[in-house]
Amino acid sequence: MNEHLHDTPHYSFWWKEGVIYQIYPRSFMDSNADGIGDISGIIQKLDYLQDLGVVGIWLSPINKSPMYDFGYDVSDYRGIDPVFGTLKDFERLIDEAHARHIRIIMDLVMNHTSHLHPWFVESRSSRTNPKRDWYIWQGNKKGKYPNNWMAYFGGRAWEWDEKTGQYYLHSFLKEQPDVNWRNPELKKAMFNEVRFWLDKGIDGFRLDVVNFFIKDDQFRSNPFGIGKYPRPYDLQKHIYDRDRPELLELLSEWRALLDKYDARMMVGEVVAEKPNPALAAKYLGDGTNALHLAFDFSFMDTKWDAKLFENRLRAYHERIPEKGWPCTVFSNHDQVRSFTRYSTGDDGEKRARVIAMLLITMRGTPFIYYGEEIGMQNVRIPKSRIQDPVGKRYWPFNPGRDGERTPMQWDSTQFAGFSSVEPWLPIARNFREKNVEIQLREPSSLLNFYKDLIAFRKKSTAIRYGTLSFLNAGHDLLSYLRCAENESCCIILNFTRFPRTCTLNIDGVWNVALSTHRKIGEQFHPTEKLFPYEATIIKKEHQA
Ligand code: GLC
Ligand code: CA
Repeated sequence: MNEHLHDTPHYSFWWKEGVIYQIYPRSFMDSNADGIGDISGIIQKLDYLQDLGVVGIWLSPINKSPMYDFGYDVSDYRGIDPVFGTLKDFERLIDEAHARHIRIIMDLVMNHTSHLHPWFVESRSSRTNPKRDWYIWQGNKKGKYPNNWMAYFGGRAWEWDEKTGQYYLHSFLKEQPDVNWRNPELKKAMFNEVRFWLDKGIDGFRLDVVNFFIKDDQFRSNPFGIGKYPRPYDLQKHIYDRDRPELLELLSEWRALLDKYDARMMVGEVVAEKPNPALAAKYLGDGTNALHLAFDFSFMDTKWDAKLFENRLRAYHERIPEKGWPCTVFSNHDQVRSFTRYSTGDDGEKRARVIAMLLITMRGTPFIYYGEEIGMQNVRIPKSRIQDPVGKRYWPFNPGRDGERTPMQWDSTQFAGFSSVEPWLPIARNFREKNVEIQLREPSSLLNFYKDLIAFRKKSTAIRYGTLSFLNAGHDLLSYLRCAENESCCIILNFTRFPRTCTLNIDGVWNVALSTHRKIGEQFHPTEKLFPYEATIIKKEHQA
């Protein structure tokens, strides 16, 4: 895995340089006392983000939307939803962020639109409408579904439309009809929307459910297969309703479009029911002709175990094409927060530090989900306050995704400094003990640990661009080397609540560069007793 060392031509790309921070705009900062986060609120917090040291922020959707799926159902790709502000506000955010060397990544939801998007309104108006084929219409007999495809959020993926007597496809909610990327006119229209934002100076995009874009042209039924959850969607192998081979061709057109501009990027959300690093890596193409980055969600359901973690990491990194670039992610707005997933009670704070070091020192671009840096936890939402359509439909079997979307905990005042009124979702009960203000003041806080890690990454060529190889340091330990020409870093993570002896087969003089337990600069011996949940980076300078 050492062939990446000389991958120097790409050094200048900002999205390889540092950490990207995901903001769920409804929940970050409310500037106008309506209980909902907004763009002006984000602007108020840019200094915080600059101080944290991130190079970019990814905003979950802010486009005009009737909010059936909180912005993942867009009714106007060029408009900004009034709940978040105006186009002027957004342009100001871009400028203010750029002034602080922070790039802006927009979430593009282009597998589907809202059912209220004018394109769909036209498409459903008659069978002969010019935009009819911009969406996916099949069948002509009510009750006889075109095939067995299921919607990801439950029920059939086909919705009967009385007026024109056909079914339309919706891979998610029925308020989210799938567009037809095989139609050249639709593709042209979508690419025009993308160009609009590129011309405005947007630095990159996150492509929502990118592996759903192209469906089987013969609409074959999916074969039977058992997935992760006992829900109807997982009783099929999704080989015909997504991940079609033609997708890579489409992605090469996307890439060509972005390549016409300077240093723009796209990161794809690749959905899979089980850990599937090969699938994510596939959509990088050869590293130059498809996505720039693709999320591998393996860690969303990997148990807390050093060996398992290593295996997952190997599986992904071994498949990254030579000219491609990996990324690392532990949390987002659809998944139980990593702190909650991995904590067994009193271990949470310690495990969060192990995860933080892994995230920031792994090869590739790290993604932090807002609040992860202060150890925010999932909040149990009472039934009466559930907002997410998934939670409304499946509570109590599936509480939905509100629990990981609660307001950012800024300080100890009444509404956690997020708003001056009751927010759209409840605030975590522990916000008075766990918030940004307190953690900025406390030198040993998780937040300051993140800041130190990010600052270290900024200075270290080995962490940013070095090769990756795993070491066998001992039972329950995860250890890997990151080597560049001028320096090597070795990362050692103790996954247990017990001391462990570490035996490293590395020579030369190594000094502690950053650690949960050791002093910086102290020499580290290859055979050391590690503290419980110790996370340490040791470093060796190379002779010139
Ligand atoms: C993605 C988004 C999720 C949304 C879905 C449908 O998975 O991350 O929040 O509900 O796509 O657009
Ligand atoms: Ca607001």
